[in-house]
Amino acid sequence: MNEAENKNLKRPPIAVVVGHVDHGKTSLLDYIRKANVAGKEAGGITQSVGAYEIDHGGKRITFIDTPGHEAFSKMRVRGAHVADVGILVVAADEGVKPQTKEAIKALKDSETPFVVAITKIDKPNADVERVKNDLTANNVLLEGYGGNVSYQGVSSKTGEGVNELLDLILLTADLEELHYSPEHRASGIVLEAKLDKQRGNTATLILKDGTLRKGDLIVTPTANGKVKVLENFLEKSVAELLPSSPAVVLGFENLPEVGEEFVAGKLSEEDLARVKKVISRKLGASDTTSKESQTIRVILKADVAGSLEAFHDLLRKILIKGNQTLDIISQSVGDITDGDVKDAVATGAMILGFRVQPNKAAENLARAQEITIITEEIIYKLTEGIENAFLEMGKSKFSGELEILALFSFKGKIQTIGGKVNRGQIRMKSWLEVQRGEDIIGKGKVLNLQQSKRDVNAVDAGSECGLIFESDVKIEVGDKLLSK
Ligand code: GTP
Ligand code: MG
Repeated sequence: MNEAENKNLKRPPIAVVVGHVDHGKTSLLDYIRKANVAGKEAGGITQSVGAYEIDHGGKRITFIDTPGHEAFSKMRVRGAHVADVGILVVAADEGVKPQTKEAIKALKDSETPFVVAITKIDKPNADVERVKNDLTANNVLLEGYGGNVSYQGVSSKTGEGVNELLDLILLTADLEELHYSPEHRASGIVLEAKLDKQRGNTATLILKDGTLRKGDLIVTPTANGKVKVLENFLEKSVAELLPSSPAVVLGFENLPEVGEEFVAGKLSEEDLARVKKVISRKLGASDTTSKESQTIRVILKADVAGSLEAFHDLLRKILIKGNQTLDIISQSVGDITDGDVKDAVATGAMILGFRVQPNKAAENLARAQEITIITEEIIYKLTEGIENAFLEMGKSKFSGELEILALFSFKGKIQTIGGKVNRGQIRMKSWLEVQRGEDIIGKGKVLNLQQSKRDVNAVDAGSECGLIFESDVKIEVGDKLLSK
């Protein structure tokens, strides 16, 4: 394996189950665990760790066991993601219920991709068609029903459909391109924390990047410690763990809070203070009302894998002003290509390059699409450039609000609509959230943008425009489309 590959490995997905009370969440997870957890002991033991790993056809999946898990709801509020994939459980004999609707909203708000498990299909009064209709009525558009959400009927009594569901989870996760680097500092999320009478402060963590080792120092925004004992989800002592494993850690001096991010590694006192500050700020930043916070998306390119790592550290160090949070869309070695620029257009990211240059096609496309590319050969200049760019973005050039005033036509997901930009800027090919009343009910992509019947790349505050918008949500007059 060469160095570059080694630093960008595929990470197994972390899945969480959500749905209405008694719709069969625990039964489904129990069935999956008993049938698939590697090793005999797993089936028999009373699981005290709220997460477990399974193996399905040689691929791993981590499940978060407790439905409506506290960490999941907290992460939702904070805008970070504990789960990579959601499993929306709807019982075939009952259909969509109030908590199903809450779960749908939570999945959509947190932009967690999800699959639908229609449970209890063995029951005589099971009515799968009704569930599908209910879901359509609630804007969950299934495959073959005008949308692309995968679904599977399952029974936790007979096991029917469970393998197919696991296939769907892996397929959905594949699209997410989940990666990690074993050389990074370990980081992830606190799932549970409790004081155990015999063992002291005990935390269950989900590892999302890096390698977590026994002996590492570990910090969260509210707690410090040292990994004195490291156990896997079977509560077996191990020397190290890799993503996306659950980990039980003993050695926190005080209890961390559920839902917090942690960072661990061979840290100096100085590192410790700095890392703590960075993750605290991230938390504080995204804690402010989500409407005001701004995510800066970046695509990183560098000449060699070693530079990418330096890049990572640099970005963590750079002061992210006030309510900005950083989202690294992708990182890779090599010159900047038009493919990178297309990714930037699709995600609203800027491209940062260290000791690399854009090729001609990339340069032209970036100019046409008004994508920011910053490239430098010297690290301190790069720092300066990035800080300035972040500052500019803080002036909300990219955050915009479009109020819908007219609906012209729609064909499935493709809708022709018109409106006025109330603030900021709306850009061609950008992803916009759909706000109805106070709620964000979905998102979509701008396929075409016109002002006075002419194609444009961006429309500024105060102007009216027409657009072709692709979204699962059927847009209504009065809806607001928001860019971040
Ligand atoms: P809460 O944790 O209370 O929200 O419920 P839950 O969603 O975890 O549901 P749970 O798995 O506890 O199942 C509720 C009831 O439905 C139990 O009596 C289960 O035995 C039953 N049940 C769950 N799945 C199935 C299934 O596939 N078929 C049948 N026939 N019954 C099921
Ligand atoms: Mg349950």
